Amino acid sequence: MSRKKIIAGNWKMYKTPQQAREFVTAFLPLVADHKRDEIVLCPPFISLIAVVGATKGSNVMVGAQNMHWEKEGAFTGECSPEMLVAEGVTHVIIGHSERRQYFNETDDTVNRKLEVALEHGLTPIVCVGEVLEEREANLTEDVLRRQCSRAFRGISAKKAAKLVVAYEPVWAIGTGKTATPEIAEEAHMVIRHEAEKSFGKEFASALRIQYGGSVKPDNAKSLMSQPDIDGALVGGASLDPQNFAKIVKY
Ligand code: PGA
Repeated sequence: MSRKKIIAGNWKMYKTPQQAREFVTAFLPLVADHKRDEIVLCPPFISLIAVVGATKGSNVMVGAQNMHWEKEGAFTGECSPEMLVAEGVTHVIIGHSERRQYFNETDDTVNRKLEVALEHGLTPIVCVGEVLEEREANLTEDVLRRQCSRAFRGISAKKAAKLVVAYEPVWAIGTGKTATPEIAEEAHMVIRHEAEKSFGKEFASALRIQYGGSVKPDNAKSLMSQPDIDGALVGGASLDPQNFAKIVKY
């Protein structure tokens, strides 16, 4: 089963719209001939329109870092899937650990957002991963199974076709402590198995599972050479066009 790898840059709360445009201007020529993988940039909401405009006609797609599940309403500070789609956004990160940790994102809100993202034709990147205490207590597998099964609840394989999952061990995010390729591979196999339980074998073998957590130019290849690692969700190292291009072209 060959799965096209998906390499996404999660800029978190970095870059003004002007800085975002400058990034794209520098980045596009570096990856212009790169067809092997799907490339996605996920800037903050305020820069989405600028990045969609600057990447138009290129091989780079644009994702949001979050969204609300309602179509519209009195939800101060939120952005709906319709609004994203209307501006040419194609991907959305759902349930990033920083949102779970600081903004009360739960398995249940992840499930609601996933369902709605799929309904709108967005490619959802659902983030799962254990914190350090859970890994040390040997709970990683339980945590991944719980996060996945709850995120996928009530969603059919047909509807979930575009789903992407990102395995992001929380202890590896922004810490410089990358999971070894073996640790990551083991977790990816758990996630694939859980997807099989929810959606069936065929779906699971086609499901793309990214690794995220201190991915850098010098570890990208060893991670992405693992059989079950189908790309990367990159934070810090995606902020610099040269670095991110090196990861894309690992
Ligand atoms: P990092 O972040 O690459 O800076 O560790 C990854 C992420 O949070 O998506």
